[in-house]
Order: sequence, then C-alpha cells, then structure tokens
Amino acid sequence: MWLTHSMTIGGGPTKLGLLIAFIFSCLCGQALGQYVDDPSAIQNVTYTYDNYVLSGSLMLKSFPNNMNAYIHYQTYDGVWNMTGTTITVHWQWENADNTYGNWSFEGTVGPYGISKFYVYLMLVESGATYTDDNNGQYYVVANGAPRSTANCDGYDVVHTSVSKGVTQLGLALNGKGCALYSPDVKYLTVSITPYSKDLVRIKIADAANKRWQIPASVVPEGTPSSHSIQTKDYAVSYTNSPFTFKVSRPSGEVLFDTSVSGLPSLIFEEEFLEISSVLPDNANIYGLGDMTDSFRRSPDTTLQTFWNLDQGTTRLNNGYGSHPVYFELRDGMVHGVFLRNSNGMDVALVPGQITYRVIGGVLDFYVFTGPTPAAALDQYTSIIGKPAFVPLWTLGFHQCRYGGTWVSTQGIKDTVDSLQQAGMYLDTVWADINYMNEYQDFTLGSSFSDWNDYVATLHQEHLHHVPIVDPGIPNVSGYGPYQDGKSSDVFLKWPNGTLFLGQVWPGVTVYADWFHPQSGTWWTNQIKKFHQIDSFDGLWIDMNEASNFVTPPGYEPAYRINNNGAWGVQGLNSRTLSTNLTHYSGISEYNVHNLFGHYEAIHTHSALSALNPGQRTFILTRSSFAGTGHYSQKWNGDNAATWDDLYLSIPQIMSNQLFGIPMVGSDICGFNGDTTEELCNRWAQLGAFYPFSRHHHSLGYEDSFFFLWESVTESALKAYTIRYTLLPYLYGLMQQASQTGNAVLRPLWWDNAMDTKTYGIDTQFTLGDGLLVTPVLTEGANTVTGYFPDGIWYDWYTGSAETTSAGYKTLDANLTHINVHVKGGIILPAQYPAKTTYATVRNPYYLIAALDKSGTASGSLYVDDGISVNPKSSQLAFNLSGNTLSIGLSWYGFRIGPKLDQVQILGYASGRAPTTIYLNGRRVAGAKVALSQNVLKITGLTIDLNNKSVLQWK
Ligand SMILES: *[C@@H]1O[C@H](CO)[C@@H](O)[C@H](O)[C@H]1NC(C)=O
Ligand SMILES: *[C@@H]1O[C@H](CO)[C@@H](O)[C@H](O)[C@H]1NC(C)=O
Ligand SMILES: *[C@@H]1O[C@H](CO)[C@@H](O)[C@H](O)[C@H]1NC(C)=O
Ligand SMILES: *[C@@H]1O[C@H](CO)[C@@H](O)[C@H](O)[C@H]1NC(C)=O
Ligand SMILES: *[C@@H]1O[C@H](CO)[C@@H](O)[C@H](O)[C@H]1NC(C)=O
Repeated sequence: MWLTHSMTIGGGPTKLGLLIAFIFSCLCGQALGQYVDDPSAIQNVTYTYDNYVLSGSLMLKSFPNNMNAYIHYQTYDGVWNMTGTTITVHWQWENADNTYGNWSFEGTVGPYGISKFYVYLMLVESGATYTDDNNGQYYVVANGAPRSTANCDGYDVVHTSVSKGVTQLGLALNGKGCALYSPDVKYLTVSITPYSKDLVRIKIADAANKRWQIPASVVPEGTPSSHSIQTKDYAVSYTNSPFTFKVSRPSGEVLFDTSVSGLPSLIFEEEFLEISSVLPDNANIYGLGDMTDSFRRSPDTTLQTFWNLDQGTTRLNNGYGSHPVYFELRDGMVHGVFLRNSNGMDVALVPGQITYRVIGGVLDFYVFTGPTPAAALDQYTSIIGKPAFVPLWTLGFHQCRYGGTWVSTQGIKDTVDSLQQAGMYLDTVWADINYMNEYQDFTLGSSFSDWNDYVATLHQEHLHHVPIVDPGIPNVSGYGPYQDGKSSDVFLKWPNGTLFLGQVWPGVTVYADWFHPQSGTWWTNQIKKFHQIDSFDGLWIDMNEASNFVTPPGYEPAYRINNNGAWGVQGLNSRTLSTNLTHYSGISEYNVHNLFGHYEAIHTHSALSALNPGQRTFILTRSSFAGTGHYSQKWNGDNAATWDDLYLSIPQIMSNQLFGIPMVGSDICGFNGDTTEELCNRWAQLGAFYPFSRHHHSLGYEDSFFFLWESVTESALKAYTIRYTLLPYLYGLMQQASQTGNAVLRPLWWDNAMDTKTYGIDTQFTLGDGLLVTPVLTEGANTVTGYFPDGIWYDWYTGSAETTSAGYKTLDANLTHINVHVKGGIILPAQYPAKTTYATVRNPYYLIAALDKSGTASGSLYVDDGISVNPKSSQLAFNLSGNTLSIGLSWYGFRIGPKLDQVQILGYASGRAPTTIYLNGRRVAGAKVALSQNVLKITGLTIDLNNKSVLQWK
C-alpha cells in the first residue's frame, strides 16, 4: 500500500531566473504538456545510495518556466510500502542547444531505507499546479531496504505443561536471531488461558518476566471463569517449530492464525515485536483507533499507529487515544482481537494479513468470538470494564465556546440568554480555558470573579456546568496546586531527579505522575478546593496525550513508528513528554505514554466520586486507552468546520462504541475554522443524535451559535425536539450499555449482520435498534440517499411507512429537515419535550409503537433518579399485539411520577378508528382517539406506570 504523505525538503522554484520570463509569457498550463507522457522527457538518470543518502543526476527536457522536480521514494520492507517522501531535485545547467537541462539531487532517506523512486515534475503557475509522475517510471535501489528477515526463524516450543485448563509453553529462540532493530529476547513463555466459552487470552512474554506489563489496576485484565468451561466457541492450537498459534471456531473457521506465509513467525526483540495473522480477502475490519477514517478500515491499505498525539482530525494519523482492538465481521458473525499493550505500535492491514509491530511490552492477545456484534462487545468490555453509566442531564444539549465573547461571565451569560430566548434546548454550559487566571488550573480570572454566582443561577434553572482542566501545572512558586504537588512529590521527573518542564497554555509547566501513589490524593484535593469557587457538575480533561508545545529531547528506538504520519521524521518525543522520564517506582514514560489520559481519567473519576459520594460522574476526556470508558466520556478532539469532518464524526463515534466509550461526540459545527450557515445547519441536525451532543468553537473564528441563523435555529429546534422527546429511550440505551457494553450509536450492520450491503455504510446509523438517522453530509444537497435494512421503517414526522423491504431510497432533505425513521417492531418510550432534561423527565410519557409486518411491537422503559451510582430503578416492558398493549414490570424499585398519556401506533392497518379504550378491562372515560394515514393516536390515558396494566382498543 502506498501511504501518501508529502514532506518537501527544500522546494520552491528551481529555475528562479526563468520564472519571471514565464510569468510574462504566460504559457498557462500548456507547459507541462511537453512532459506529460513523453518518455524522453527525463533521460540518463544515474544514482548511488550509501548509508541512507541517495544522490544522483538526470537530464530533463528544458523549458522556460517554473518547473520543480522531486524524487518520490518508496520502501517495501516485507510488510508494507511506505511512500510519498520527497527529495528535491535542483536544476544545474542547460545543454548547448537548450533542449535539456542537467539536474541533480542528494538527500537522506528515512529510517526504513528506499526500495525505488520515480521523478515527479510539478509546474506551479498562478492559481494552478500541473503535475506529471513520469508514468510511474521507477528506478530500483537494490541495496536500499535496510531490513532483512533472513535470520528471523522465530522460536521453538521447548517445554509444555497444562494445568487447570491453562496451557503454558516455554519457547527458545531459533538460530542466532534476527536482531532487526534491537537484541532478540532468547526465552519466552506463552500462556493460553480460556476465560469463558467465548473469550481466550494468549500471552507471549519474556521468560524472565522483566518486561513492561500494564498493571491490572490501570487496565483490567479480566477474570477467567472460576467454573470449568465445558463447551468452548473456539479452539486454540499451536505449532512447535517454529511456534505459531491459531484460534478457530468449532466449525474450523480460522479467526486468528500467526502462521502467515512468507512472514517471520514471531519476532520478539528488546524494542521490537512483530507478529502477523491471516485475514480473509477483503476482510471487514472495524476499530483500531483513535483514528480519523472510514468506519470499515481498508483491508488493503491501513496503517494505524498507536501513540497518543495532540493532532486534530487528520486522516490516517494516530489519534488522541489508543485502542489496539479490532472487530471483524465475517458472514454475519463477529469476533474481535484485543492486544493489551500500552507501547507505541504500528498495525497494518494489507491484503490477506494483519501485522503488529510494537516497540515494547509483551504480546498479550485476547480473542473473543461473538458471534453477534452485541455479544462481541459484551465480551470485550468484560475485559476492559463496562462503560460508566452517565448522569441523565448529560444527555441534554451542551454549549461551549473557546474565546470569542466567552472571556467573561457576562459574555457567557449573553450567549445562554440568547439560546434561551431563541427557544433552544440547553442543559449544560461549559467553560474553556478562558475562565482561568493566566490559564492556571483551579483558578478564576478577574472577569470571572462573579462566576460562581452565575453557576448558582444556572443550577436554579436546572442547568449544569462543566469547566476544563489541563494536566500541565505551571511551576510558579506560591501557586497552590504546584506547591502541594511538589511537597507530595507527584510530578514527573528526569531520571536524575530534576522535574520535567514542558510548555502548555500557562507557559512552563510540570506534569503529574499518575503512577505516584500520592497523585490521586493531590488531584482530589485540588478538585475539592476548586469546587468551592466553581460549583461544577463534571470536569473536562483536555491536553492529556500529554500535549506539550515543545519537543523535549528523549530516547528514540531504532524502529520508528509512523508517528503523525511522518515516517520517523517526528519521533516519539514530538510535542509530548520525554520518553526518558521515569514515573514512580522507575516506570519509564516510554512504556506508559499511551496511558497518561486514561490514568488521569481514573484519578479524576475518584476525585469526583469523593466530591459527590454515591453519584455518577461526568468526565470528558480527549485522550483515552482501552478501558477509559469505565471512568470517563469522550469527545473526538479538535475537528474542523468542514464537510469532511461532519462525515468523519460518524465513523469516529461508531468506533468509540467498539472501544467501550458509548458516550462520545464531535464538536458540532466544527471546532477550527469558520463554519457556514449550511454546514452548521446540517451539523445541528446530525449533532442532535450524537450520544454526547455539544456545540463548541475555537478562538479566532466567527461565532457559530445556532441562534445566529434562522435556518440553523429552525433545524436545531426540530432535531433537538426529537432528541429530548426520546430522552427516555436514549437513557435506556445508556443504561443498557453500562450493563452489557452494547453500542448506543450503531452501524447498520449491528442489528443486520447478515446483510452484507450494510458492512461499508457509515453515513447513516441507528440509535439503539429502533431509530435510523440518515443525515445530509454534502454541501448543496436537498435530497439524501439512504439504505434501509429489511423491515418496515416509518418516517418519524409523518408516521408513514417509508419502506417495507431492504434497499436504497432517495429521500427529500431540504435545509431544515433531517430524515429519521422508526423501525417496525419497536416501541420507543418518549416524553413530551421541555427545554431541559430536568423538565422533560417530569413531563408525561408517551409511547411510539411502530408495528412490524405481523402487527406487533415491543420495547422497554428504564427509569431511576438519573444520578445515583446504585440507584433504585424500575424497568417496564411493553408488548403490543393486535388490539392489546400490555405493560409489564421487568423489575420495580423506583416510583415513576409522570403518567403515560399517549400511545401512538404507526402502521395501524384496520382503517377504522377504535371507539372504546379499556384499561385493565375498564373503559377509559377521558381517552381520545385520532386516526390519520395509518397512525392511530390514543391520548388522555393517564396510566400509572407503577403497576402492570393492559390497554385495549375496540
Ligand atoms: C508494494 O508494492 C509492490 C510493488 O512495488 C507491490 O507488488 C505490492 O503488492 C505492494 N504491497 C502492498 C502491501 O501494497
Ligand atoms: C544520455 O546519455 C546518452 C549516452 O551517453 C547520450 O547519448 C545522450 O545524449 C544523453 N541524453 C542527454 C539528454 O543528454
Ligand atoms: C537532569 O537531566 C535533564 C535532562 O537530561 C537535564 O536537562 C537536567 O539539567 C539534569 N539535571 C541535573 C541537576 O543534572
Ligand atoms: C535519554 O536516554 C538515553 C538512553 O538511555 C540517553 O542516551 C539520552 O542521553 C537521554 N536523554 C536525555 C535528554 O536525558
Ligand atoms: C422540508 O421537507 C419536509 C419533509 O419532506 C417537509 O415536510 C417540509 O414541508 C419541507 N419544508 C420546506 C420549506 O420545503
């Protein structure tokens, strides 16, 4: 696969003297024609390669214009092709008759060497660029690729034992080893531990047990079943010489197999581990994040790097967090593979294989066999922890702003007033770093001296408040958080004991060492003190990759992961903490870099739990690792106000469901850049269906609040009315996710896994299994084409049946309309919407029962106090069949105040409105009935939901 990355060394016009002449003669675009497809344009290319330096010369057809020439070179290192890296070619002189020019080049290639190159021509004119890749004429550099796996003969099994179902193998290195990037580890142990009938752990570690392994207190490792596992949905087998292992289904279907033809069986060096597995052709792989990519990862050209990085939403880069897990969908069945390793790594999907290259730790694989998507996610979250159950208020609309008018209490209040005057839904008012004094955590700036009074006002209106805190603590003497941390010795240090200094918003800062046993207490104390001057309801932990505005010196291993897509040009230390730092008890930052944000989230969760014992917490983190969802919620970081980022928010949110972080969203209307009315309008519609729904916008750009445009106001009102109406449904999905890990915002294949047409769709999604959202993601559109899985789908607005069998359909989607459909067979619990979640949950309930082909529908309603960790709760079960709706209690522990006022039946076929309504056999006097277009509405019911009951219509 050819990864595109352009990095120009040098550049600029190479024939500057002739540029002027060109501008006056203005050949405007015809110039390159002389070169395009002309095999004689480039002649006599000569080159030498020595010690990573490529130099040479060539003859290029002369032309009086602004021509640039580059060497684009590529490396094939046995697994993937790296490309796009550039060396500039310089013009030297013309030959006598001016027909050819002599050009030369010399440049250092990246750490992977060079397999071949081609000459790339580029003509830059005012306003346009013309390019020619010289017909892909390649020049091969025979001695260029540095990596030879000739001596990588893997390991042999030299010892076997089985005890209580756990297989232990001893491995010994074959031959002298390969030492590709560092010395080989000679002896390894493998343990194969069945965890349950659908989960098995295969761990390959050093026999001496000296290497870094993530402590179970930081990332859980799951618990094997204490019962003997009778029938397993998998079989694990291995080969002895060399050692490889294979996990198959009982049917023989191979899920993971490390014996890949033509590749080393296993490389286990001090700082380089490589292992590959066979994949089917055109495999359906999801996960491997954080990423900015389509939801289904390209099985042929994906290289995902894991090294947490403050780097916006750049496609194909490593992201803010690391989740080394993938889910594969094959013939309707899902299985997954989790590599429990916190070190930097590259994971490549190339045709027929997945390859892991890891720069430390051990190979600790978990394979889970599904086979349903929900079962697979339940299995994965049984290892890393179930998602935290969010407080109900967090499901409302959140408003944030960085800079702009949000630099004083009054500025924020003005926006809130405008939102409310425009009739907008609003639950939470955020505060970005502007509220702080000199960007110092846990302080209030002078224009926020009255802030806490305002927060009290918000609370009176049942609104909530979440401020930001960053991990960089300024090393300013007299600043409490720094002084306290220094005396408890909780900050990160160099090996010689000197505090590490980075640079973030407040200037020079130190960083907490979350591994230090006192760091949690210190953090909790700061947060408790801060709460006295800012009575927040949740915390936003940003910049925790950890971000640093400068690149410190630090150790770089020989194998360079593709950090920031720059092929080793940007090392591990780029804009973060130094890999040399040591955490408490000597743990090296090199090994735990990817855990910084995760561990901060754990400590923040403890702090908020200490602040409000017994209450659920709300924490929004940017960086994450496997298991973060157990403690924290997340947003997708600094996106941009572009149509592409509007689309990308869907695959990003879907992927996070797989990572066990269902409560996730992207900044609505785009964080960076100026949005447009149309983009913000479409984003308001889509964002209303994000699990975490927040509008946010960056410093230095025009305001993009919904109320600024009439069309956006209208769209937001329309879409958020649906969100607040379905609050009981959304809350029930969140509760379910906290129990089973199940996805809240789902790809279409989640509930239609046999339908291969759904496998690549990430421009639509469902919330739970009942609501299909088909947003407009392109500029200028007034229709949208969506896929409808099998079944009846009813239009949300009209209740008419849109489709009755699987297929694509083009729908009207004018500027203020987002298409939403309800699935036949589902009963959605709803409440009459009010402008806050607080008021909404106090309004009467109603049910939207969408009938399936056999005229039945079912659903449930979960209710509790909305905030307690172990709440008393009630769950109701609804079943509609024929003319009867039965309301049952799955369990009962929480008294439900509001009554059920209305039942809507979509797909009501009888054609005749019923005349009499019975509740538990008795006529309901106040009930009213209306039938229009197959939608039957029975209102005025006032059914007490604390008892089971039966509603009938005749
Ligand atoms: C790498 O490039 C070579 C041609 O140079 C091609 O044969 C091979 O299939 C490519 N491999 C991948 C994984 O793209
Ligand atoms: C390329 O080299 C050949 C052989 O030395 C020579 O005849 C030819 O003139 C060269 N081409 C150019 C454009 O100089
Ligand atoms: C400790 O090491 C760091 C990084 O190498 C260096 O900048 C600092 O000056 C050293 N401190 C002392 C006291 O030597
Ligand atoms: C980092 O560690 C490496 C290897 O241990 C050492 O060579 C290098 O000097 C260290 N750099 C700093 C800045 O401490
Ligand atoms: C927009 O489309 C919806 C659904 O098709 C329709 O109900 C509404 O009237 C349209 N609005 C305008 C202004 O055309």
